[in-house]
Amino acid sequence: MTRKEDARFVRGRGTYVDDVRLPGTLHAAVLRSPLAHARITAIDTRAAEAHPKVRVVITGAVLADRGLAWMPTLSGDVQAVLATDKVRFQGQEVAFVIADDPYSARDALALVDVDYDPLPPVVDARTALDPDAPVIRDDREGRRDNHIFDWEAGDAAATDRVFAGAAVVVAQDVLYPRVHPAPLETCAVIADHDVVTGKLTVWATTQAPHAHRTLLATITGIPEHRIRVVSPDVGGGFGNKVPIYPAYVCAVAGSMLTGRPVKWTEDRSENLMATTFARDYHMHGEIASTVDGKILALRVRVLADHGAFNGTAQPSKYPAGFFHIVTGSYDLEAAHCSVTGVYTNKAPGGVAYACSFRVAEASFLVERLVDLLALELDVDPAELRMRNLLRPEQFPYTCSTGWEYDSGDYPRALALLLETAGYRELRAEQARRRELGEHLGIGLSFFTEAVGAGPRKHMDIVGLGMADGAELRVHPTGKAVLRISVQSQGQGHETTFAQIVAHELGIGPDDVDVVHGDTDATPFGLGTYGSRSTPVSGAAASMAARKVRERARIVASAMLEVSPDDLEWSPGRWSVRGDPTAGKSITEIAAAAHSDLDLPDGVEGQLDASCVYNPPNLTFPFGAYLCVVEVDPGTGQVVVRRFVAVDDCGVRINPSIVEGQVHGGLADGIGVALMELIAFDPDGNHLGGSFMDYLLPTAVDCPSWELAETVTPSPHHPLGAKGIGECATVGSPAAVVNAVMDALRPFGVRHADMPLTPAAVWRAIQGRPLRG
Ligand code: CDP
Repeated sequence: MTRKEDARFVRGRGTYVDDVRLPGTLHAAVLRSPLAHARITAIDTRAAEAHPKVRVVITGAVLADRGLAWMPTLSGDVQAVLATDKVRFQGQEVAFVIADDPYSARDALALVDVDYDPLPPVVDARTALDPDAPVIRDDREGRRDNHIFDWEAGDAAATDRVFAGAAVVVAQDVLYPRVHPAPLETCAVIADHDVVTGKLTVWATTQAPHAHRTLLATITGIPEHRIRVVSPDVGGGFGNKVPIYPAYVCAVAGSMLTGRPVKWTEDRSENLMATTFARDYHMHGEIASTVDGKILALRVRVLADHGAFNGTAQPSKYPAGFFHIVTGSYDLEAAHCSVTGVYTNKAPGGVAYACSFRVAEASFLVERLVDLLALELDVDPAELRMRNLLRPEQFPYTCSTGWEYDSGDYPRALALLLETAGYRELRAEQARRRELGEHLGIGLSFFTEAVGAGPRKHMDIVGLGMADGAELRVHPTGKAVLRISVQSQGQGHETTFAQIVAHELGIGPDDVDVVHGDTDATPFGLGTYGSRSTPVSGAAASMAARKVRERARIVASAMLEVSPDDLEWSPGRWSVRGDPTAGKSITEIAAAAHSDLDLPDGVEGQLDASCVYNPPNLTFPFGAYLCVVEVDPGTGQVVVRRFVAVDDCGVRINPSIVEGQVHGGLADGIGVALMELIAFDPDGNHLGGSFMDYLLPTAVDCPSWELAETVTPSPHHPLGAKGIGECATVGSPAAVVNAVMDALRPFGVRHADMPLTPAAVWRAIQGRPLRG
């Protein structure tokens, strides 16, 4: 089925926040810090306030008077809305200017005079815990260092024992650098506070409208039932639109101060500089094996750079997200990982950019280590993986760090990959080309994702359990409306969620409308990220539709004057067992449910139903990827020649949407592996504030994707579906980097950190690593 929503998107008829025009709207711009670390000694706003079109200039002091200068983050920290004491990263919000039009607001920024007293910045996370490191968060009472958290998973002692007895141990420092989700639509908000009704309406480009409403209520003190959050069409999120940003709170304050709607739309540089980044994990990994390549154990230490405020969005119990899925797809005796989070003078956050809470970092590390082990043992990396993959009979499988994988047939996926790619022939071609002095590289990765957070008893964000609601209304004519708590950012939910209901009720997908993105019109739920929509909300939609089906059965039994037990279901119809001609369609039943039909006692009539789905476990999609690159050792340039991807996300609701999700994720992986980097100079100046500096892959950088699939249903999801949205972003960087390292093998290069730009590859060949 083609995507329903494309009819408006391809005609330019989508409605994004910036398209929303409310009468009397004022426009805002944010004044940002030019320095990474400095004390603010004075702010003079008089000249800006004298600008004829400026209505209000909000500073930290103005907010502090109303108790709004600081706000809670999704990770239990606090973040400055507007700086009052110090600035802690370049680009931090210092003042918010509201004017009649966006241009005047921008112009007036230059009229705000701020005196800064510069302080030394902490730019390299590896120095953040030095005893003489400047303390970034001196606002935190009693804290005199840059330490945020220590967290560990697995059995340290058992792991050490296995390592002590292992014949082969391979270790490597691996940096997963700071990258940015960089959605096409930047962040934007309109806040409209109605002084008469006391109702606040916030249009925001958000992945989690309900969570934003609860947070806004907590921050502003406005009762939650008087807040409506509307997230209209969203031009990409990738984790960037999970948190609440300071300008959102300023827009609310601005609307309360002016009595008018206040709109703020971020520009590209602001988005890249100040909204949440992703990754920035300094990882040290060790892998232990026998001499014949049976992998025994994994030991990992991570230093996590969280920037100036801990604004990550992770489930409360997991400060490093799901990083402990680092054991990947292999059958190990023991594993242990520990993660230390630190503050630095960089933009706050560390969101799960197109991955389920740090799975991308984990998957990349283990897949690099497996390749390094193959190099050490001089065995083929495909063969080494095949020897160690979990076997189908081991599922459900509990790994050494505590995850229970629901289902999988990993060897089948790897075998399909090797066959689809023509692996043997590729290796033969590589050998021939090496003799000619040409550098073809073949890289593999095998990944396991963990998607669909909850269950609620294990996972919450700021105390909100990770369950999601769905409400299904069936009109008298048999047409349906499904209301869901998750929010599409381009993933095609209006199509796939209609397909789920259509499948359960036996009606056409065009007869089901999907409503999302408006807290006044949808049930509560935590939103769309971590590929959780299909595993959680998709299940809720399916269960609500099954309840409708059961209600329809009672009504049909009254219509047909038989017992409900004597009815059997075929798509779209209840009929008398053994007599298919005696039956009623869902459309007939819906009409009867609203009619004067005499229903049994206790049966309300109408077919509407709802469900709050608390998933019993995550779903565990997986995949096997192969990348072929050619490297020019003279320039260091990498060209991706082929990319073959086998994905297993259980039952596919809409195969073409699934393929689209995989295409996007593979392109993401090429970008992260070869070109994307949010870099800083030693003073903390941000070096990637535009798309001229922060490179994104284009069609020119991507080959024609070669996709294949296996289908291993999730045993606990009502439809057997697992999430897919982020799998390819998680699995692909390792395949690309492993391919480049494979190409560089004749030069004796073991490892080089991403992004593998031409300069980085050239320097690796010269034996001069970029990092100290
Ligand atoms: O949470 P998010 O929508 O980002 O990720 P997802 O649940 O993996 O879904 C991405 C898109 O792929 C949605 O339109 C899904 O309904 C669709 N999908 C599918 O058709 N079949 C699956 N097994 C998984 C997702």
